[in-house]
Amino acid sequence: MVDLEIREIGDGDADAVASLWERCGLTRPWNDPRADIVFAHASDNAAILGGWIGTALTASVMVGHDGHRGTVYYVSVDPEQQGAGLGRALMDAAESWLRERGVWKLNLMVRASNQSVIDFYRSLGYETEERVNMSKWLDPSRRPDRKD
Ligand SMILES: CC(C)(COP(=O)(O)OP(=O)(O)OC[C@H]1O[C@@H](n2cnc3c(N)ncnc32)[C@H](O)[C@@H]1OP(=O)(O)O)[C@@H](O)C(=O)NCCC(=O)NCCS
Repeated sequence: MVDLEIREIGDGDADAVASLWERCGLTRPWNDPRADIVFAHASDNAAILGGWIGTALTASVMVGHDGHRGTVYYVSVDPEQQGAGLGRALMDAAESWLRERGVWKLNLMVRASNQSVIDFYRSLGYETEERVNMSKWLDPSRRPDRKD
């Protein structure tokens, strides 16, 4: 596997992170990734970990906890580097970040139609739990037409 250096992103990395998420198909027209990056970066309970190959930001994950469970969002590996173990290394780092903060369970969401990503998480030891995922827009003005 190539040498991936994983560390928390710095203030100047937001554009590179947003660009990576776009290349990985994780952004939506109605959702500004930079606002998500600023919000997580400023939080004590969340971080965005980046994975660099040399100076190239090649992978990233937003990890955080709510005082009870941990979660991850925006798990991403540059399309040109996928399938080489970087996603596993990134998730290992996110799990360590949570363990270091006393969190003992990670819950994550995947669209039911995204079978390849479900298979990725399964190979990392994640199990499907029968739950209904519910949500409410606390600021209705931010609600897009679509619900995802
Ligand atoms: C999902 C993603 C992060 C995986 O990263 P990756 O670097 O390609 O994954 P890895 O090479 O580390 O694979 C880790 C394990 O998952 C398995 N895996 C990965 N993709 C798989 C697939 N499509 N089907 C079956 N298994 C898969 C690998 O075989 C490997 O298992 P092994 O270590 O036992 O051999 C990457 O494909 C990606 O960025 N996708 C686009 C963004 C996305 O959809 N993110 C998820 C948002 S919820």
